[in-house]
Amino acid sequence: MEKIQYTPIIIESLIFGKNSDYPLYIKSGENFILYRSKALVFSQNDALRLKNNGVDNLYIELKDKEKYDNDILEHIETIIKSNDTNFEEKAVKIYIYSKVYAEYVVTTGNLRENQENVKKSIETTIEYLLMSEFAFMNLLNLSSYDYNEVGHGMNVSIYSMALANRLGFSNKISLYEIGLSGLTHDIGKLKIPKELLSKNDLSEREAHEIQKHPIYSKEILTANGIDNDNIINGVLEHHEASDGTGYPFGKMEEDISTYGKILIITNSFDSLTRNRLYRLKLSVPDALNLMEQNSNLYNKAFLKEFILLMSKKAL
Ligand SMILES: [Fe+2]
Repeated sequence: MEKIQYTPIIIESLIFGKNSDYPLYIKSGENFILYRSKALVFSQNDALRLKNNGVDNLYIELKDKEKYDNDILEHIETIIKSNDTNFEEKAVKIYIYSKVYAEYVVTTGNLRENQENVKKSIETTIEYLLMSEFAFMNLLNLSSYDYNEVGHGMNVSIYSMALANRLGFSNKISLYEIGLSGLTHDIGKLKIPKELLSKNDLSEREAHEIQKHPIYSKEILTANGIDNDNIINGVLEHHEASDGTGYPFGKMEEDISTYGKILIITNSFDSLTRNRLYRLKLSVPDALNLMEQNSNLYNKAFLKEFILLMSKKAL
């Protein structure tokens, strides 16, 4: 008998999925146990119950993945246009939907297989961001709870799109490019051994290896068929600095692309306001103050706009 293959799904995504006809499984050790033969109406309470029992993911059979993706896509398109769903609630649904695909991409480096879904999730976020000046804050209120690589990628993506929009980018294609660049900027860390990423005392050689991750990010994107210069430059330059002290190339500001200048700011900010292994996060005002004190690292005009953008959050 052919072995059934399974793929994880995020529990919250089922809350807004329609009543699908594919079975759901729970993983126990190496085994997959049937949880529901049909995904009947799945409520917030069901999700909470699973979470309380330590279940983070449900699984579906790999052959049902396309149906699952289509269900989510269909539903999210209805949600964003719906007059019945309030504006904050839309942010929650869009965020959960985006997270499903962000997680696939950031944890596997496989963009090709989910490219359409990732594109749709970023485009949906853009559509939402452009609806109202309150949209950005609604998304930020959700993102604060994620302290991992997926949350970091999503935050940098959302911050970068909002900053680009504030700087006058209103073209949806440009906003999509910067959103994808933000989401995938650290994807190259997948090529670096985990032990190295969590190590405290790095040798010079090890530090140098970690500093190559923007180059690895580019390599992963290229391997996935993405060769758009804007996207690639944003990813490659996210650790550069205007005064030439960044890495991996030590570029000066005049050699850094516009997307790079945006990502340098958004990546710094999200790193400062997020708990790391050896350091506690800074508050939003403290992070913005620190960045202002070190303004030689950033494009000053962009930094000023970013501080204005985030100032509502700081209040
Ligand atoms: Fe990075």
